[in-house]
Amino acid sequence: MIIKPKIRGNFFTNAHPYGCEAFVKNQIEEAKQLTSFDGPKNVLVIGGSSGYGLSSRIALAFAAGANTVNVSFESPPKGKRTGSAGWWNNIFFQRHAKATGNVHKDFIGDAFLRSIKVDVADYLKTKLGKIDLLVYSLAAPSRTNETTGERVQSSLKTVGEPVEGHTVDLANRRLTSVRVEPATKQEIEDTVYVMGGDDWHQWVEVLRKSDLLAEGFKTIAYTYIGGETTRPIYRDGSIGRAKVHLEQTARAMQDTLSRTLGGEALVSSSKAVATKASVFIPQMPVYGACLYDVMIRRGTHETILEHKHRLFYDMVYGDKRIKDEVGRIRLDHREMEPDVQDETLRLMRGADEKGLFTLPGMNAFIDELYALNGFGFEHIDYDKPVDFDALASMKPE
Ligand code: NAI
Repeated sequence: MIIKPKIRGNFFTNAHPYGCEAFVKNQIEEAKQLTSFDGPKNVLVIGGSSGYGLSSRIALAFAAGANTVNVSFESPPKGKRTGSAGWWNNIFFQRHAKATGNVHKDFIGDAFLRSIKVDVADYLKTKLGKIDLLVYSLAAPSRTNETTGERVQSSLKTVGEPVEGHTVDLANRRLTSVRVEPATKQEIEDTVYVMGGDDWHQWVEVLRKSDLLAEGFKTIAYTYIGGETTRPIYRDGSIGRAKVHLEQTARAMQDTLSRTLGGEALVSSSKAVATKASVFIPQMPVYGACLYDVMIRRGTHETILEHKHRLFYDMVYGDKRIKDEVGRIRLDHREMEPDVQDETLRLMRGADEKGLFTLPGMNAFIDELYALNGFGFEHIDYDKPVDFDALASMKPE
């Protein structure tokens, strides 16, 4: 099968297996070049097949020498379907992580379900032992309520007034307008149910009750704050309500964990990066691209791997933690510098469409979105058919 980018409604419907390998390998090479550190021995990542979860897994496996267990929801190739990028990321992570000599295990399934939590607990009990760190990096569109059987959807909507903004049309490299309607009360509650802290808390509780949390255990989830331009649709929108809940959950868990295990429940505000969800958040791609541009020029731009390495090396296991007044780790401090925010805003307001698409930051942002699905790597011949039979024996381990 010849695999070239297929984008429908700004969503990549395919992925290139060997491009995904290149994507993972590049991050592994980066992690090997960065300072190694004493971190956790056994790590569980929920949502470790792509984005921030994958970079966290790679940073911890290769710079801290951790054993890693990952739970993610990904689809294998089938018929004309190439399989999801995360599927191949897991496969190639496993292949290259063998060299660490450590244990790396993947569970493919719905992390929200109680049954998978029990399966992971059983695996830990029999194979790996207690965990030192749980990274919760889930970005999910929906969750089944196991009590009612109802499928609950999360939404990216405003609270109060509608907002109009732009997003990037990836296929045509143009701007398109989007209007975001206010969420209903029910939609806000549903978004909090899917993307808030409830499931994170359940994971910690299942493992705590099974005596699988090591002394000094830490858990961390990722939040986003962002600046003025994204505030109406992100921080003040339905997803922002879910993030507030996630942050409250950390504070609530902190008490129990510090009392019982000398542990910590942390939330880190990470910077805006190009990930699958970012193109569906109006203004976010334009903001992200202009931000990249400003930070590249200032020399403060980090790759997603560098960002997560710095989180664990400096702020979770190191002594350079920056916390705000409500206890969140502010890994995003470089993004949030007033000068960076002002310059980003000026760029967003001042540039016309043509100007925007000539910015190195815009091109870097879009290239990253293609790379997430294995596209745009120079050494890969995209005209050469991918032999899925040759890949068929590769299953998550
Ligand atoms: P992503 O879309 O790249 O990755 C999401 C992960 O969740 C994947 O591993 C996927 O398999 C997994 N997943 C989704 N539904 C699942 C389910 N039902 N069961 C098991 N696994 C499931 O997401 P991204 O962007 O890395 O986001 C991760 C977290 O970081 C989110 O909480 C997001 O809000 C936060 N964040 C993201 C920022 C960004 O700019 N992308 C900025 C700051 C925070």
